[in-house]
Amino acid sequence: MGDETQQALSALLHERRRFGPPEELAARANAQPGIYDEAAADRLGWWAAQAAQLQWDEPWSEVLSWHLPDARWFVGGKLNVAVNCVDRHVAAGHGDRVAFHWEGEPGDRLTISYAELQRLVCKAANALTELGVREDDKVAIYMPMIPETVVAMLACARLGAPHVVVFGGFSAESLRGRILDCEATTVITADGGFRRGAASALKPAVDEALEQCPAVSRVLVVRRTGQATGWTEGRDHWWHEVVNRQPETHQARSFDAEHVLYIMYTSGTTAKPKGIFHTSGGYLTHVTATHRLIFDIKPENDVFWTAADIGWVTGHSYIVYGPLANGTTSVIYEGTPDTPTRERWWEIIERYQVTILYTAPTTIRTFMKWGDDLPGRHDLSSLRLLGSVGEPINPEAWMWYRAHIGGDRCPIVDTWWQTETGGVMISPLPGITATKPGAAMRPFPGVEAEVVDNEGKAVGNGEGGYLVLSSPWPGMLRGIWGDPARFAETYWSRFPGSYFAGDGAKKDEDGDLWLLGRVDDVMNVSGHRISTTEVEHALVDHPAVAEAAVVGASDPTTVQAIVAFVTVKGGVDESGGVGVEELREHVAAVIGPIAKPRQILLTPELPKTRSGKIMRRLLRDVAENRDLGDVTTLLDPTVVNAIRERMGAGAGEDD
Ligand code: WT7
Repeated sequence: MGDETQQALSALLHERRRFGPPEELAARANAQPGIYDEAAADRLGWWAAQAAQLQWDEPWSEVLSWHLPDARWFVGGKLNVAVNCVDRHVAAGHGDRVAFHWEGEPGDRLTISYAELQRLVCKAANALTELGVREDDKVAIYMPMIPETVVAMLACARLGAPHVVVFGGFSAESLRGRILDCEATTVITADGGFRRGAASALKPAVDEALEQCPAVSRVLVVRRTGQATGWTEGRDHWWHEVVNRQPETHQARSFDAEHVLYIMYTSGTTAKPKGIFHTSGGYLTHVTATHRLIFDIKPENDVFWTAADIGWVTGHSYIVYGPLANGTTSVIYEGTPDTPTRERWWEIIERYQVTILYTAPTTIRTFMKWGDDLPGRHDLSSLRLLGSVGEPINPEAWMWYRAHIGGDRCPIVDTWWQTETGGVMISPLPGITATKPGAAMRPFPGVEAEVVDNEGKAVGNGEGGYLVLSSPWPGMLRGIWGDPARFAETYWSRFPGSYFAGDGAKKDEDGDLWLLGRVDDVMNVSGHRISTTEVEHALVDHPAVAEAAVVGASDPTTVQAIVAFVTVKGGVDESGGVGVEELREHVAAVIGPIAKPRQILLTPELPKTRSGKIMRRLLRDVAENRDLGDVTTLLDPTVVNAIRERMGAGAGEDD
């Protein structure tokens, strides 16, 4: 185990604070104390009871069919996910309930009821059908955070056409890679979106991506910013022209529980992102049950706000599918927390009387830096529960969140999960758990997780190791799109019989779980998963670069920051040659701005072992200014000093 992990461990050992659930919440909580025993006594029966709360058109014959690594849940059952998220609530008499309070960054607002959402989704489904989209066609969605994004996803779900949402911050090249990998035939996009007070174009990236995607025959474009856009006749259609003229009803079909609902690309340890795919019945069961029980959702009263982008799994599961399946009123906000002022979020909470806020530690730490007085100026008393996701939350941020946002009365649920798990796997339950600042605490009912050592043996209380999931769960990924071998290898080979999550974890003296971060070459930058290899490939893709090594250096705000060590062809040329800024921009162009290294260091050589492996641990030590450990296996120990000197001298520093 590395120094970082050791340090984290010893800090956690000193954490002794406990926060019991508020009495009032506990008394009426959706999850009552017997829930863990119930689920443990009959795990599959418990999940079946969760699934039974959805509307099935045909019942399942078997809860789980499991042939490692292939799981099928609710075998033979049929349902329509969009009908469960929308029509079901209208039919039950809740058509007037607000589905979304949407707020655009410039301040435009729209409130959409379940009945209106139903009409919008039906029209969009009819529009896609008119354009020729059929069951199993993949639809790429590259959009800002606007209501049409949710409508587009639900229209796809309604038609059984898997959606592939690509985060708007990804480059044309990243979009193209994903479109080609899943063989999408259709793209839904917008002219642009608003970010930090300005219109930011999206359509040009689609046009660029599609230059090499011959299989895409139709592009539907939402007018959002009014920016001028290029137009390909016959291929491009305005959303408002095609959708507005459609009938407001649509006859939905039912699909098999294992019908693919969506593909979501995420970074792995190689340069090629993995197309994680989720199916219908198990996924919807998992996100609905976790949303109802972990966030204690009372659909008549709560206003739920997941402040994340729909382009990530958090948005899929806890802006769209979980909340809608539970008939919840949600807030969707298009922009960043600092536009036009750093009080934007607190104004939104006041305006819509938000009761539950779900966000990432990196954002919480940003608010901490901005000062206690900003949230202090607002009435946040509508809040009753707070959630955290995306990275380990440090006790300081947890305590600040509780005091300054939660008014010392709201429980905090720190929820551990991944794109692959579909929904939350480890979390407190707010009416039951006495929480500890920084701990994700316990596996969700019906989930089996363990911390194991190198040999796969469960560790004792007070010890650390690797987090594994010991049995299949309904929301689990069903595979990596087009690559079953990689699926088996990545998740199921390290500890035979168990799913290897890629995270380090510790079981404390009470057996509660603390997550310690990734143990592989995946970086966590502000809660975004970025592969070191992917950034290295982007750098080497630049004609001037010979070799690149990328490490995630710990960073007080963003968890990790990307630091790159680069050798250029023909050696470092101080006068002219390739500039650091050019390389940073190059990475942004290849992957997207989120992958831009914080720092690039041009160096004459990279430190390598005698067998030719780049010594990343050493580079991480250099990047974090630590004493170097054992360098005896180094081919040329002087290389490190050369790098260190350049680093110290600030050469190649940026920002
Ligand atoms: C990785 C998954 C789950 C949606 C957002 C990220 C880290 C996530 C926590 C948490 C500690 C966490 C893990 C995980 N992570 N939540 N509560 N505590 N770490 O999804 O992009 O698939 O990333 O995020 O390292 O493996 P993702």
